Amino acid sequence: MILGLETSCDETAAALVTDDGHVRSNIVSSQAALHARYGGVVPEIASRRHLELVLPVVKEALQDADAALDDVSRIAVTQGPGLVGALLIGLAAGKAIAWAGRRPLIPVDHLHGHVASLYLEPAPLEPPFCCLLASGGHTLLLDVRTHDGFAVLGTTIDDAAGEAFDKGARLLGLGYPGGAELDRLARQGDPEAYRFPVARTSGLDFSFSGVKTALLYTVRSLHQTELAERKADLAASYERAIVTALVRRLLAATEQVGAERMAVVGGVAANSELRRSLPSARIAPLALCTDNAAMIASAARYREAIPYPGYLALDAYASRDAA
Ligand code: KG4
Ligand code: ZN
Repeated sequence: MILGLETSCDETAAALVTDDGHVRSNIVSSQAALHARYGGVVPEIASRRHLELVLPVVKEALQDADAALDDVSRIAVTQGPGLVGALLIGLAAGKAIAWAGRRPLIPVDHLHGHVASLYLEPAPLEPPFCCLLASGGHTLLLDVRTHDGFAVLGTTIDDAAGEAFDKGARLLGLGYPGGAELDRLARQGDPEAYRFPVARTSGLDFSFSGVKTALLYTVRSLHQTELAERKADLAASYERAIVTALVRRLLAATEQVGAERMAVVGGVAANSELRRSLPSARIAPLALCTDNAAMIASAARYREAIPYPGYLALDAYASRDAA
C-alpha cells in the first residue's frame, strides 16, 4: 500500500491506497475553524497545526485501514504548490516515516493529485480527457493524455474560482471558507434575479475579479433589510455567473483539443450548480474534491519513487513556476 500525506494548505490529511487504486482509508482533519476568525488561512498557524496533527492523522489512517506501517511499501507526499511552511511539515513527516522504514518516497505535485482523484477505484477514468481543475488556489483547463501528467490550456488571470466563491461569501456575510455555504444558500435563491458579468477573456483563460466587484457594488447599493431579503438571490446569481464561465470554457477547451470526455476536479467540483450543469462530465466524488491525501497517493502510482535514502534533501515549492 501507499501512504499518502497532504499538508499544502489548511487540511492535514493522510490516506492509504493500494497499488491498484483502492482507497483503504482517507482521513482529513480540517483547520478551517481555526482560521475562520481571520477570514482566511494564516500560514504560520497552519504550519503549527499541521505539526500537531500530522502523526495522529497518519495513525488514524493506519487504524482505519486496519493496517500497520509494515504494510506500507512507499510514502507519497505533496511537494508543492502551496504554503511552503505547511508543505514542509508534510514533507518532513513523509521523509521521516520513509527513512525510518527504509522505504522509498514519492514527491507529488498537488495539482497532479487533484487530477489523479479521477484514477481511483471503483470507477477510474482513463485518459485522454479534458479537465477543469477549480480550487481555492487554482483554476486550470488541462489536456490530460496520460496518467502521469497534463498540458495547461488555460488559467485564471486574477482570482481562482474557489477564491471568487469565498470572497463572494464574505461579501454576503457568510462564514469562512464560504464556497460550500454560498452553494447551500444559492439553492434557495433565483439565479436570474441579478445579471452578474461573465468575463470575456481571450482564449481559454478565466477572470473572476469583475463578477466579484459587481457583487460588491450590488451589496453596497442595498439597504440592510433589503440585503437580508435578497441574499439567496444574490448568492444564486453570483454562483450562476461563476459556473457559466467555468462551463463555457470547459466546453470550448474540450472542443479545441478534440477530447471525447471531460472531467472536473478540485474543491469547486463539489459545487452543486456546477455538477448539475455538466451532466455528461466526469466529476470527482465529493469526498475527493477538496484537499485529501488519497488523491496524492493515487498520483504517486504514476511517478517514479526516490529510493531510500536519496530524498532527505528534497525541498518543497510554493508555486509551479518555481518547481
Ligand atoms: O481543492 P481545495 O480543497 O483546496 C485548494 O487546493 O485550494 O479547494 C477549496 C476551495 C475553497 O475555495 C472552497 O470555498 C471551494 O473549494 N469549495 C466550493 C464548494 N466546496 C468547496 N466552492 C463552491 N461550492 C462548493 N460546494
Ligand atoms: Zn487543492
